[in-house]
Amino acid sequence: MSEELENLEKQIEEKITNATTLDELNSIRVEVFGKKGLITNHLKSLTELPENERKEKGKKINNVKNKINTLLQQKNKNLSDSEISQKLQKEQVDITLSTRPFEEGKLNPITQTIAEVSTIFQKMGFETALGPDIEDDYHNFTALNIPPEHPARQLHDTFYLKGKNNKLLRTHTSPVQIRTLEKKKPPLKIIAPGRTYRADSDITHTPMFHQVEGLCLDKDINMSHLKGCIMDFCREFFEINDLPVRFRPSFFPFTEPSAEVDIGCFKDKKKIKIGSGGSWLEIMGCGMVHTKVLKYSKVDASKYQGFAFGLGVERLAMLKYGISDLRSFFDSDIKWLNNFGFSIFENIEKI
Ligand code: PHE
Repeated sequence: MSEELENLEKQIEEKITNATTLDELNSIRVEVFGKKGLITNHLKSLTELPENERKEKGKKINNVKNKINTLLQQKNKNLSDSEISQKLQKEQVDITLSTRPFEEGKLNPITQTIAEVSTIFQKMGFETALGPDIEDDYHNFTALNIPPEHPARQLHDTFYLKGKNNKLLRTHTSPVQIRTLEKKKPPLKIIAPGRTYRADSDITHTPMFHQVEGLCLDKDINMSHLKGCIMDFCREFFEINDLPVRFRPSFFPFTEPSAEVDIGCFKDKKKIKIGSGGSWLEIMGCGMVHTKVLKYSKVDASKYQGFAFGLGVERLAMLKYGISDLRSFFDSDIKWLNNFGFSIFENIEKI
């Protein structure tokens, strides 16, 4: 009897060892432990034995049962492991295959320059303010001390919107000064980047262009703050520590005194190089905010004063990045953009 059990055990062990799939292993399990399984039958036959033999035989069968169970478990693990690795092998992705061509978009140098200018002023504590492209006469002119008959209105070559009672395309970003003062009280420091429009078109003018306005109002602001702020800006923007910066007396109805800012450069027939070199290039207008502007905006001019500036973005971009034709910014030429544009990722790092 026990010999028979030993033989059965060996037989089953061999089957388990030879099994090559999980399905096969499962049929062996049924064959052994199923309702009419080989071991099940042995266990059933115990009832026919007398008590004393039953105990001993029962132990033996249980031992065999446990051994076979452990074997089945081990084999099950081996087979599933190898099935998984076979599957992985079969479904392997060929990572040596080259990718499809990836077209990276580029930022227009204008966008890049506005981001750079904004970053420098933000570091000095200026907040960004925005205003509408379609303005009214009051914000674009009157509140900036440019009354209706003022000759400066002619100089601005304004686009008026037909039948839209005095609506116009803003000729500069200075109206954002007025709009900011309607919402905020000084002390304040803001910059306002945006599009501006003048009916003017030649090699050095496009009807739409960009400016960045600046306004700083506080209790003890004087002209030296204006000069320091603008000089620091110019030197950081052009990345030249000793860049010559000159303030030349000028006139704007909304500042008094007013100045035009020039930076040093070297100029000959072929090229312009920013830095020392004896020549000058104009890059922005500025001045101390006119008391009349403060009065229009109901700011107490005996308490607060400050400075304002407005710079031309295209000019700065052309000088910094060696772009010679102003109109190319707006030609939507993809070849030009690939050459002069900026990677989005580069820009994010900068900001
Ligand atoms: N708005 C002026 C222009 O467009 C520039 C400027 C702004 C000058 C602020 C002084 C102060 O030319």
